[in-house]
Amino acid sequence: VQVSFRLNGSWVSVEVEPGELLLDTLRLKLGIRSVKRGCERGECGACTVLLNGEPVVSCLLLTVQVEGMDVTTVEGLRSDPLFRALAEEFVKSFSIQCGYCTPAMILTIYAYVKKVYEGRKGISTEDIAKAIEGNICRCGTYPRVIKAVASLLNKMPELLPTLKS
Ligand code: FES
Repeated sequence: VQVSFRLNGSWVSVEVEPGELLLDTLRLKLGIRSVKRGCERGECGACTVLLNGEPVVSCLLLTVQVEGMDVTTVEGLRSDPLFRALAEEFVKSFSIQCGYCTPAMILTIYAYVKKVYEGRKGISTEDIAKAIEGNICRCGTYPRVIKAVASLLNKMPELLPTLKS
């Protein structure tokens, strides 16, 4: 089956098996290695991508289901100011240990921060913890991740022009 979708802002067209997982198409056919294989049953969040801006686990999605949609991974956010600010906070807060969960964790937080800006999410520690509850960090860096996100949210006034675009 031929499937076309937007990957990190560019249209791609790829031949897939009808039952092929988006996780496999991204990693094995499209060279997207930031999307990690973990539990393969929707529990660890390591394979998270943004689908039309919403975090979803790519191990539970067939590639044929994303026909015509927008798929974003961290590779597509390299020059995005919000992504860069978030990555900087991660480094400052030592929020990365083995790094396996980091790309997925960052995508989830990226989507959460956009919702905060739109007034659809709160900014308490509990809100941040809830936002990342689907992303398992085997190294247990959650307190440092929450610290990084809280620090980023404190900089929201500086980031607002970026988020408006
Ligand atoms: Fe998809 Fe764990 S590999 S949620």
